[in-house]
Amino acid sequence: MTIDHAGIADAHPRTADTRTPLLDVLAERWSPRSFDAGAAIEARALDAALEAARWAPSASNSQPWRFIVGRRGTPTFGRIHAALASGNQAWADKAAALIVNVAETTDLDGSPRPWSHYDLGQSVAYLAAQAHHDGLHAHQMGGFDRDAVRGAFGLDERFDPVSVIAIGALASPDALPERLREREVAPRRRMPLDELVLHRD
Ligand SMILES: Cc1cc2nc3c(=O)[nH]c(=O)nc-3n(C[C@H](O)[C@H](O)[C@H](O)COP(=O)(O)O)c2cc1C
Repeated sequence: MTIDHAGIADAHPRTADTRTPLLDVLAERWSPRSFDAGAAIEARALDAALEAARWAPSASNSQPWRFIVGRRGTPTFGRIHAALASGNQAWADKAAALIVNVAETTDLDGSPRPWSHYDLGQSVAYLAAQAHHDGLHAHQMGGFDRDAVRGAFGLDERFDPVSVIAIGALASPDALPERLREREVAPRRRMPLDELVLHRD
């Protein structure tokens, strides 16, 4: 049995099964749906997650990532939550914060930033890793209405809302409806490494 940072006994360890040891934060990060609706996010932890995103590498150091940050109980949180797909709305309302991850797809002159989605994904990976390190959990979502987010926050055409990430304190799987509880405790799986490496000498 492991005890997570929120002090919740986890009878179903979520740690990645790897051939070689990984950094703890990479092996232990996973995407829960059961968040503690009573736990707020500390400003310092939110700042740290955003700082981590800020310090990701990017093509020509273009930093084509932007974030719309809403803490639970704020109008921004409500507007992000309203844009989520219903399956995500069902659990993401308990997260301490919802963040829209936005790619800047062109520069101010209209020149394309071909790596903007790649760079944004990498910065969100940093954000999630830092959040995990700070005792939080994060869950990325592609299921949301991009036009609704665009309209709600008046995003320019240059900006593409790519994903939403829920961040918060882990709660027990038993707090979820049965269908989601089953997914919460199901074994985490990945394709074998041999299938991922196309050539290796
Ligand atoms: C770009 C992206 C979109 C995702 N969209 C959703 C989503 O809409 N709803 C959801 O519940 N999970 C979503 N996920 C979470 C994945 O299902 C999850 O990361 C994957 O199953 C691996 O599980 P793990 O993060 O616990 O290792 C998304 C993850 C990513 C990276």
